[in-house]
Amino acid sequence: MTSSTSHQGRDTVFKILFQACATLFIMAFTLQSTRSLNDGRTIPALGFGVYQVEPGDKAVQAILWALEIWVTTKLWDDSHGYTNAISAFEFSLEKLGLDYVDLYLIHSPYPGKKLRTESWKALEELHRKGLVKSIGVSNYGIHHLKELLSICTIKPVVNQIEVTPYLTREDLVAFCNGQNIRVEAYSPLTMGQKLKDPTLVSIARKHGKQPAQILIRWSLQRGFIPLPKSVHKERIIANADVFGWEISAEDMDALTGLNEDFVTEWDPTTCS
Ligand SMILES: NC(=O)c1ccc[n+]([C@@H]2O[C@H](COP(=O)([O-])OP(=O)(O)OC[C@H]3O[C@@H](n4cnc5c(N)ncnc54)[C@H](OP(=O)(O)O)[C@@H]3O)[C@@H](O)[C@H]2O)c1
Repeated sequence: MTSSTSHQGRDTVFKILFQACATLFIMAFTLQSTRSLNDGRTIPALGFGVYQVEPGDKAVQAILWALEIWVTTKLWDDSHGYTNAISAFEFSLEKLGLDYVDLYLIHSPYPGKKLRTESWKALEELHRKGLVKSIGVSNYGIHHLKELLSICTIKPVVNQIEVTPYLTREDLVAFCNGQNIRVEAYSPLTMGQKLKDPTLVSIARKHGKQPAQILIRWSLQRGFIPLPKSVHKERIIANADVFGWEISAEDMDALTGLNEDFVTEWDPTTCS
């Protein structure tokens, strides 16, 4: 065997090994996949949203279709402060009919530094009592996270923020990653507003997938925990069919390049 043919042989072996590893990686990522949290627990890699679903049969049916439950609930902006936060949580727990919730979040930093700091102390107390297994925040910008990290005794495990190819928030995401705070991606389908975007539609066609599936898969491949919402059975099933295939690096870049700082509803990450 000449040197060049032995190189070719080695290259072929490397290629086969690389493809086998890549395939194993893709196959290993399933609906049951989890992400580790900085408090030692794990969270499902894909969430399920129920925002703006009216309470009632439709909501119950959607949840039943999606079942396998991890319960996250939030402290609303009008219930901040130490005592209020404890009472609001107790009220939520009673309404949910549960002994504990998996994840309790501060919904937004809007109530201001003093109140959100007191509220965090309440969340830490609820955590210590075992009433919430993990605690985190939502809609926090970098300055809010720095403020929280300077006073907390328990670190937030997640920051739930709006993040899509149209709103990539690179700095905030990098900060969260650097602090080992998971990013949960809300409104990952842009509330339906970008599902007809020509670049997205063309990438979806290329993969034989729906635009919504591409957005969810993009989020997963970026390392986020996307929370797509639907009340339709066929969409719930399609939105969960995002494993066992992947978006190529080139198409991931094309999607990420769509950033236009597009906010669907509100953006508390910039408030003081
Ligand atoms: N922390 C926060 O401030 C915050 C804010 C907003 C949302 N969230 C969380 O994020 C979750 C999801 O966000 P979201 O409800 O705002 O928006 P979203 O998940 O981006 O989009 C939901 C919309 O997309 C449609 N849809 C779902 N699957 C689809 C599919 N396969 N094809 C076409 N359309 C599809 C839904 O319609 P149908 O339901 O009719 O199928 C609905 O109109 C919420 O439920 C909530 O948990 C958090």
